[in-house]
Amino acid sequence: MENKIPLSVVGLGHVGLPTALGLAELGWQVTGVDSDRDKVTRISGGQVPFYEPGLQELLSKHLESGRFRPTEDINEAIRSASVVFLCVGTPQREDGEPDLTQVEAIARTIAQHLNGYKLVVEKSTVPIITARWIKKTIQRYARATAPVAAGAGVSNANGEAEAPALDVASNPEFLQEGKALKGFLEPDRIICGVETEKAREILTAIYQPLKRPMVITDLTTAELIKHAANAFLTTKISFINTIADLCEAVGADVTQVARGIGLDPRIGPDFLQAGIGYGGYCLPKDLRAFIRLAEEHRVDFDLLKAVEKVNEQRIDYFIKKIRQVVWVLRGKTVGVLGLAFKPGTDDIREALSQKIIDRLLKEGASLQLHDPRAMANMQRVFPREAGRVSYCASPYEAARKADVLLLVTEWPEYRELDLARLRDAMEVPVLVDGRNLFDPHELRAIGFEYHSVGR
Ligand code: UDX
Repeated sequence: MENKIPLSVVGLGHVGLPTALGLAELGWQVTGVDSDRDKVTRISGGQVPFYEPGLQELLSKHLESGRFRPTEDINEAIRSASVVFLCVGTPQREDGEPDLTQVEAIARTIAQHLNGYKLVVEKSTVPIITARWIKKTIQRYARATAPVAAGAGVSNANGEAEAPALDVASNPEFLQEGKALKGFLEPDRIICGVETEKAREILTAIYQPLKRPMVITDLTTAELIKHAANAFLTTKISFINTIADLCEAVGADVTQVARGIGLDPRIGPDFLQAGIGYGGYCLPKDLRAFIRLAEEHRVDFDLLKAVEKVNEQRIDYFIKKIRQVVWVLRGKTVGVLGLAFKPGTDDIREALSQKIIDRLLKEGASLQLHDPRAMANMQRVFPREAGRVSYCASPYEAARKADVLLLVTEWPEYRELDLARLRDAMEVPVLVDGRNLFDPHELRAIGFEYHSVGR
């Protein structure tokens, strides 16, 4: 069956596009579909609509190779494929529940186009039992729309048209923005929740070229693995941030504590970077959803509620730190380095920078903002405002005549800055580093008043 199964990826966002191009890179024939016409036009023209390292090159390569075909025609994308990967958004509703409207709508559309066997693979992060709902929805609406599917369907004993065979699988994605392609092409593990041998065989064949460990489970277990992984990562971050508070109180160094505990393979060194907390489109939203899910099933997960609370308090912590350093914020000029929710992306969704900017503006400060990639996105949220909000072409410009400089996102290029030039640009050389990017000794030796997190 290798490389002969036609695949479709529904949703060409931060997960869908790297997935589609990653599958094309593995040799599969992939149709990518998105309901946003502008997005499809841009992608068809060879332009990635967001910043993700390496993706642009891969898009050009597979438009050229013909292995990736973007379209806005969802009906055709479903009819032409045997395996349909669902990578549509599951945004958070106001009440904190995930909004599954898009997932449900696609399930109903699939139901109308069951022109042969389909394996529907859920990749979006969704609450447990969503896969079962997808299956139920497809089966329910397939029956209601039997004439459409009848041509390729089979008949039951009564001679009525039956929808062709259908499988649903859960194949959660663990990719991190900024490292999406590496995450797809060199995953630590591939999780597949399946119900049938056929679904297992197909997914094993699809991912076989990666030669990475596969964990095959039932549907619900696979869905739970995704939730548990994200929840554990946030727990690590909130844990080390609380250790950072303790370090500040007793005069210890959190970066050394992280190194000291991280070398224990039972703990591991990753996700022990203390700072101003976790942001982004996934971790905060997924943790909230997981807490709600546990509550719904009457499981007491107070541990995760504490993780969330610690994270929410990080912004207060950071603002308080800035206030302790500059005293009065009203009328002060504050330079901000880094707006993206983390380095390597132009994504500002649930970025802590947004909360920090909002708070500083309310306190009456003027802001000079810089980011290597995310300024265009941030300008849509905080437009330029004479004397209050400006976007700067370089970090040095953001530092110009500033009373304090904040490091909010640890872009590696900031580590390469000419620190003497940065110091000279400022009104007073004060730097508050929310991500522990710089070496305190170096900064102080150069004449900065330097403050960081937990050391
Ligand atoms: C995350 C998960 O890592 C990924 O597996 C899942 O598929 C989607 O959600 P992503 O949102 O791309 O990925 O970002 P990630 O690299 O996990 O960082 C999330 C946030 O945590 C960032 O704001 C980052 O600055 C923060 N973080 C991360 C820390 O504060 N400390 C750390 O040690 C690591």
